[in-house]
Amino acid sequence: FNDGPLRGVRVLISAGPTFEDIDPVRYLGNRSSGRMGYAVAAAAAAAGAEVCLVSGPVCLDTPAGVARRIDVRSAQQMYDAVLTEARASDIYIAAAAVGDYRPKGVAEHKMKKRDGAPLTLELAENPDILAAVAALDASPFLVGFAAETRDVETYARDKLERKKLDMIAANQVGGGLGFEAEDNALTLIDRQGSETLPRCDKRELAQALIARIAAQFHAQRPS
Ligand code: PMT
Repeated sequence: FNDGPLRGVRVLISAGPTFEDIDPVRYLGNRSSGRMGYAVAAAAAAAGAEVCLVSGPVCLDTPAGVARRIDVRSAQQMYDAVLTEARASDIYIAAAAVGDYRPKGVAEHKMKKRDGAPLTLELAENPDILAAVAALDASPFLVGFAAETRDVETYARDKLERKKLDMIAANQVGGGLGFEAEDNALTLIDRQGSETLPRCDKRELAQALIARIAAQFHAQRPS
């Protein structure tokens, strides 16, 4: 019996990178390992939530207590899975590093070298998953992440407003933090203010983040 702060709450979490195929053997990706999102999924399950984890391609085991895991590859596939699941979720936490662009077309066969001639890849913009969930009639409590290499708080506040989020967890990436690393540090920003969760292991950080999300969620939507 779990009497945690998210008992019976349906939490949807997206984690990991997206891979955008160029041809049958190449893709555009990013450095996300999935560790942060998986730690958040583990912490939410430990807090009693019914967790659905939508995961990009990572080499991680599903955390204990996670009810469902849906594996996807591209941003479009992540969009489709998240939009389907979000309608039946109370909270959506977007920890994935979604590719902003994809190659305009996927070559049917492995592309060949061009004898020294330059190769241009034309890119098309991917849909914004968080913004689409925010636009749903009954949108869940929305928590975004922001990964920045500079002016972290300014960019994060802009994303909080623009994407109509309830909270954003901002991280400065680089220098052994953020992507791929075991550790991270977060600045949590909502409309009331901000709080810094200093550098520590992603699992510990995720537990602190889930405690803050649970408190805000219950304050905004008393049951
Ligand atoms: O996976 P790890 O190696 O542990 O690294 C963790 C992390 C650094 C990837 C994670 O902590 C993090 O910051 N994730 C968000 C990374 C990111 O790409 O953020 P962004 O600033 O590009 O996007 C802002 C928010 O919009 C994110 O919540 C993102 O999931 C969401 N988004 C972005 C693009 C898009 N097309 N749709 C989205 O929903």
